[in-house]
Amino acid sequence: MVKNILITGANSGLGKDSARQFALLNDTEKIYIGARSHAKAEAAITELEQVTGKSIFEAAIIDTTDLDGVRQAVANLPEQIDTLIMNAGGMGGTTPGALTSEGVTQIFASNVLGHVVLVDELLKANKLTQSAIYVGSEAARGVSRMGMARPVLSTGSVDEFVSLADGSYFGEKFDGQQAYGWVKYIATLWMSSLARQYPNMRFLTVSPGGTAGTNVFSMLPAPLVFILKNAVMPIMMMIGMFHSLETGAKRYVDVAIDTATYKSGKFYASPDPGVTGNMVDQATIMSDLDNETYQNNANEAIHNFIPQPVTA
Ligand SMILES: NC(=O)c1ccc[n+]([C@@H]2O[C@H](COP(=O)([O-])OP(=O)(O)OC[C@H]3O[C@@H](n4cnc5c(N)ncnc54)[C@H](OP(=O)(O)O)[C@@H]3O)[C@@H](O)[C@H]2O)c1
Repeated sequence: MVKNILITGANSGLGKDSARQFALLNDTEKIYIGARSHAKAEAAITELEQVTGKSIFEAAIIDTTDLDGVRQAVANLPEQIDTLIMNAGGMGGTTPGALTSEGVTQIFASNVLGHVVLVDELLKANKLTQSAIYVGSEAARGVSRMGMARPVLSTGSVDEFVSLADGSYFGEKFDGQQAYGWVKYIATLWMSSLARQYPNMRFLTVSPGGTAGTNVFSMLPAPLVFILKNAVMPIMMMIGMFHSLETGAKRYVDVAIDTATYKSGKFYASPDPGVTGNMVDQATIMSDLDNETYQNNANEAIHNFIPQPVTA
């Protein structure tokens, strides 16, 4: 049973539509709408209240690149949540390879680092009781038909994961699309390592699949966004290569409530080689996802970048 939910990046796209779908379930009592600003959260809450007829939404101001802000958001949370959906992220904005003050790339910070601090702080404060669900992507196991190569580790060492997080792995030519697959892969391994550390809770990864109707391309030039939204996406949907916003967001709800089918430690996404269709365990496609050494090393590498807050 899912009662209290926190969704990061819930002011837009998949996060917002999953909030709408969770709100329509009978058991849901509260949904915290994670957003980078009050204005964005309030705009989404107004819309969600209108479309669902429910007044169960609260704002949670979370920018996943601002680690102190994430800690503050957990301190401000007035109650326990049972389900966390880590949806915020995407392609890392206009400078995905730029480094944050912690020394990781923007694309890594927005998709991974802030979520790791969020989970660590929620657990420390005993404010997460059941499930943490990370929003991954089929890019983590490669999507050849979209030009996304499968990430293949050379050693799987802590150092290799560190170099992927700080971007040095990519050398001079930082390619946001290539980095995106790696970033989602590392987060997926981190979730599986947590699943083994906390056997009484659920830690798993889900991909929404190729989903139209979100703002994922918003960092691209406006004319290109127009063409993608109005010409490319409708064709992709027609030929079954992408699906609707509702279908993508429903995957979050399915993995949150169907605990018999969707197991802790696993990554559920579309069958190979596509990005739509009924979800399958991605370790059946890419066995490295089940490698416990890789999982532990990814977790350790990520934590190398998390400074401990100075206490007075
Ligand atoms: N659409 C797809 O086909 C697809 C496929 C696989 C996986 N995904 C994943 O699904 C998730 C949602 O993407 P979407 O397609 O729904 O795109 P979207 O409409 O752009 O939504 C992304 C959300 O994340 C938020 N966000 C971005 N950076 C953030 C940060 N540093 N801190 C806090 N929030 C941040 C955005 O906030 P702002 O509004 O403030 O920018 C927005 O609310 C992403 O993790 C994406 O990687 C999408």
